[in-house]
Amino acid sequence: MQDYNEFLREILITEQEIQTRVAQLAAQVSRDYQDDDLHLVCILRGGVVFLTDLMRHIYTANTIDFMAVSSYGFSRQTTGQVRITLDLKDEIQDRNVLLVEDIVDSGYTIASVLKILETRQPRSLKVCTLLNKPERREVEVPIDYCGFVIPNEFVFGYGLDIDGYYRNLPFVATVDLERYKPGA
Ligand code: PRP
Repeated sequence: MQDYNEFLREILITEQEIQTRVAQLAAQVSRDYQDDDLHLVCILRGGVVFLTDLMRHIYTANTIDFMAVSSYGFSRQTTGQVRITLDLKDEIQDRNVLLVEDIVDSGYTIASVLKILETRQPRSLKVCTLLNKPERREVEVPIDYCGFVIPNEFVFGYGLDIDGYYRNLPFVATVDLERYKPGA
């Protein structure tokens, strides 16, 4: 695997900035759900790093679950035709569901997941994303909690991958695609 220093252009959001913002978001979530149970639903795989940090800063009762969807061919599909590759383990009827994502880009993933989960009649259904890239939006989606708005650049780290790698990095960085060598 290529050393990321060879293609890293700029650290867009430092580890400290992420940790500070995640703690702020968790405090806000804790306040908003303090009188209610909270069910955190992480969209795999990118959301998992954010989820594990976020949940450790939330100081009110919460549970977690996971789901994964296939995003292949989104641009040629209509919202709602997403394929679930891993479904939730628990029922969500009458529960307060907060979707946890690493990034909202075109919006198709969140729009599709919201449409699917709404049919299961949760008491509430909201969205928490670490990153929001509004310039890429193709379908409008409600975002209730957002860590950072970022420009339209390819980013990696803190859950976001390049060909499956680099999700473990504690920061979010931009890529110099001319220096990235796939498979190297
Ligand atoms: C990424 C990310 C979001 C989605 C956002 O997932 O984790 O789920 O894309 O893009 P969108 O707003 O254009 O739908 P990806 O399909 O790359 O899978 P991964 O999380 O397993 O990396």
